[in-house]
Amino acid sequence: MQPGTPQKITLPGVKHVIAVASGKGGVGKSTVATNLALALHMLGRRVGLLDADIYGPSIPIMMGIHETFDPNTAKFPLDRYGLKLMSMGFIVKPEQAMIWRGPMVHKYLTAFLTQIPWGELDYLVIDLPPGTGDAQLTLTQTAPLSGAVIVTTPQDVSLIDARKGLEMFRQVNVPVLGIIENMSYFVGADGQRYEIFRHGGGKKLAQEAGVSFLGAVPIDPRVAECGDHGDPIVHKHPDSEIAKTYLDLATVVSSEIGKAGAPGELPGLQL
Ligand SMILES: Nc1ncnc2c1ncn2[C@@H]1O[C@H](COP(=O)(O)OP(=O)(O)OP(=O)(O)O)[C@@H](O)[C@H]1O
Ligand SMILES: [Mg+2]
Repeated sequence: MQPGTPQKITLPGVKHVIAVASGKGGVGKSTVATNLALALHMLGRRVGLLDADIYGPSIPIMMGIHETFDPNTAKFPLDRYGLKLMSMGFIVKPEQAMIWRGPMVHKYLTAFLTQIPWGELDYLVIDLPPGTGDAQLTLTQTAPLSGAVIVTTPQDVSLIDARKGLEMFRQVNVPVLGIIENMSYFVGADGQRYEIFRHGGGKKLAQEAGVSFLGAVPIDPRVAECGDHGDPIVHKHPDSEIAKTYLDLATVVSSEIGKAGAPGELPGLQL
């Protein structure tokens, strides 16, 4: 596989491309992207998951794929739990991935989008690295994004960065589908709800920014455990309360994307 040249990309078989982003690192983007993709699949949709974190890919671990493949002979995208997958971590070991620089990030992401036979998909979910760096730039400028989902945690530091992420998508006219508050609260064994980081900031940010609040995901140790063991909670425990939360999110995201219109269309305008 040769890295492609920079250009505006079209993905004729893919109905919607959704970027999962945040400003701050470690807020749960990859976990949300993975479980959201699986939830969309459970709703009967054809779904791909692209790991755009070229420096620190998480999807291989979360989906339990530990081998690396020769890109000249491998059949990408890989198939796992019903999803079509691509990640830099399928080509190089995570410690090697650290050496990539800006232009390489651009080349590989473009190649992942254009040279991987994604086939017919209802959704291609893209897990972004944190911040507003090279990967975000490449994707917002070249990929046909239908919309972005912003993940935040309830703390102020995360909310401030989420706002920056949100503004970045707005500047390039990518519709922000809404905000997900992750690690929002914790339900103890006593059934009590504990608001460890002051829940509610995501909703407030959504109101202030004039975008939808898509929902809140609680802190649940099983979420982390399942992610670490390569079998995400929506797949491993599809009947759990937390899986239902992700299914609700998937339903809201698909309805928001309907409102956002096709890529390139201005929402609310009949052209
Ligand atoms: N709702 C949750 N409950 C418990 N643990 C969670 C939850 N969401 C995410 N985690 C855990 O938090 C850690 C960070 O999550 P994740 O890797 O998804 O964040 P990220 O935003 O993608 O990070 P990065 O910015 O490095 O890409 C992981 O160990 C993950 O399992
Ligand atoms: Mg991540």
